[in-house]
Amino acid sequence: MRVCDSFAHGFCSKFCYGTGMCGIVGYAGARPALNIVLDGLRRLEYRGYDSAGVAIVLSGDTDDGDAAGRRRPGELLTAKRAGKLANLEKALAEEGAHGLRVGATGIGHTRWATHGGPTDRNAHPHRSFDGRVAVIHNGIIENFAKLRAELEHDGIEFASDTDTECAAHLLARALQDAAGATPGEKLAEAMRIVSRRLEGAFTLLAVDVEAPGVVVGARRNSPLVVGRGEGENYLASDVSAFIEHTREAVELGQDQVVLISPTDIVITDFHGNPVEGKPFHITWDASAAEKSGYEYFMLKEIAEQPHAVAETLLGRLNETGDLMLDEVRLTDQDLRDVDKVFIVACGTAYHAGMVAKYAIEHWTRIPCEVELASEFRYRDPVLDRSTLVVAISQSGETMDTLMALRHAKEQKARVLAICNTNGSTIPRESDAVLYTHAGPEIAVASTKAFLTQLVACYLVGLHLAQVRGVKYADEVAAIIAQLQEMPEKIEQVLSMMAPIRELARDLAEAKSVLFIGRHVSYPVALEGALKLKELAYMHAEGFAAGELKHGPIALIDEGTPVICVVPSPRGRGVLHDKVVSNIQEVRARGARTIVIAEEGDVAVKPYADHLFYVPITPTLLAPLVTTVPLQVLACEIASARGHDVDQPRNLAKSVTVE
Ligand code: G6P
Repeated sequence: MRVCDSFAHGFCSKFCYGTGMCGIVGYAGARPALNIVLDGLRRLEYRGYDSAGVAIVLSGDTDDGDAAGRRRPGELLTAKRAGKLANLEKALAEEGAHGLRVGATGIGHTRWATHGGPTDRNAHPHRSFDGRVAVIHNGIIENFAKLRAELEHDGIEFASDTDTECAAHLLARALQDAAGATPGEKLAEAMRIVSRRLEGAFTLLAVDVEAPGVVVGARRNSPLVVGRGEGENYLASDVSAFIEHTREAVELGQDQVVLISPTDIVITDFHGNPVEGKPFHITWDASAAEKSGYEYFMLKEIAEQPHAVAETLLGRLNETGDLMLDEVRLTDQDLRDVDKVFIVACGTAYHAGMVAKYAIEHWTRIPCEVELASEFRYRDPVLDRSTLVVAISQSGETMDTLMALRHAKEQKARVLAICNTNGSTIPRESDAVLYTHAGPEIAVASTKAFLTQLVACYLVGLHLAQVRGVKYADEVAAIIAQLQEMPEKIEQVLSMMAPIRELARDLAEAKSVLFIGRHVSYPVALEGALKLKELAYMHAEGFAAGELKHGPIALIDEGTPVICVVPSPRGRGVLHDKVVSNIQEVRARGARTIVIAEEGDVAVKPYADHLFYVPITPTLLAPLVTTVPLQVLACEIASARGHDVDQPRNLAKSVTVE
């Protein structure tokens, strides 16, 4: 067996540490691994795009090698590059590696850096001191300083300062005397030995030059799923990496090690006890993870919202009119005992939670608090078994939300997850789950997941109200019927976006944009501002319209754009009138007002420099339509400013660090 260095150059690193949340893919099969791994990385790139890298073990076939015959069987090839995947692909093409016809085992990594700059040398994979194994990692190994000191004391020289490199060296050492009938089993045993020593969060994948045809993975607190193919198997951070090859997947639990070969999937715990993985079928369509002619994933995902909302509502009422959740490990009595609801979430999901608070309190009369997941456990909230904690997460892997959930469980609270990703950690650790059926969301900025999270929150509120006897089945059915009209209304909004696009070009140079709203329009204002910040890198802030006069109104200058989300004049008319007064206040101070109001609302006309109508909608459900123009606006402004809409700078979609 020969061990060769990377195809590309300059890979040794200094001063890089953890790898926050990343995309990880592994392949064992008969097809050319490099192309399959790169395809997988392309689909996972939304998880991080600071660097990318691959490691391929060439199989023992005699014709292994690239088109020019430069590669030899039994080699372990690694390549990595800072920046987006395209940089790595360019480097590989320059090396002639794209012509690599075989190489039956491969792993690949796309990184979102936590510590250490996004440089070539900080990229994964990392090789062991003897060059025998290559390792990729998602997470942070918290005891790495101690492990590194121990390894250095034993004379092992580090080529980088990554925590991941510790795992690579430990693995090579453990391999020297790991028990096992085959090289693959030895690698799995070595992985178990190493995993028992690591603290923190990690998904690790490793290949060993002595074990061609095998990839071994370990999982603690970071995502990893198995894809079961025909004569080939996959490992990945999420199913989108292998969805075009297979729809059959296997869930992995915490603290498990998995070995894949072309024919086998062998799972054990960290002590070698066999574990049955839970199989599941992926219902997402492979084309759902393609742009399908749209310029950006985000535009496609905005357009998919009517369908996503409809899917999330599908089949929720049983024949007796009762609402159905997806997985319920709680009794109705548990839900009747609930005397307080906490919603925990991050980013856009947190805004969905803010809307949910209004609906849940209104429908159930149970006090409901919304909290940023990252703050929740640190303030020692008062929780007990009659508290229901609702964790909202598109990915199901957000570490802040997961930690909030675990804290809640330790305090004996019941946990209900609203999640878009089957097989992910948050739903698995919850007492009940309601899946949003948004399909894969690839653009980093969340759109269709947000709308479906709103729908799921409404359903949870209605379910609670029904179980507790606060609402009768026919009342619930009436609100469900209103919800069922929403896909069509969202469609109508989408058909009226031309003036928003025009306005976007106009606003592209604005220094700052403010958003105001009241009641459920307040979180909509926050979400509109978040979208603009994350996509257009502009200063944007959302305010409760009534709070403006207590400080933020000082920001308003001649021409400052203020986007005003106006509640319906029907029903809670008082809210509407108050917001109209707030619009007048900002206009009197020079603001340029952009008003989103309900069709037929003539009262706003005199105060709107730009007026966009949305269809008439019940007050609590209005965010399902008022958010849409704000998504389109942010997307178009970002595009006008020449930004990468799907992969905004500094961000990642799935944030698996605290
Ligand atoms: C990241 C994403 C946001 C997302 C948030 C929560 O920050 O960039 O778009 O809203 O995480 O993600 P989750 O998967 O938990 O909904």
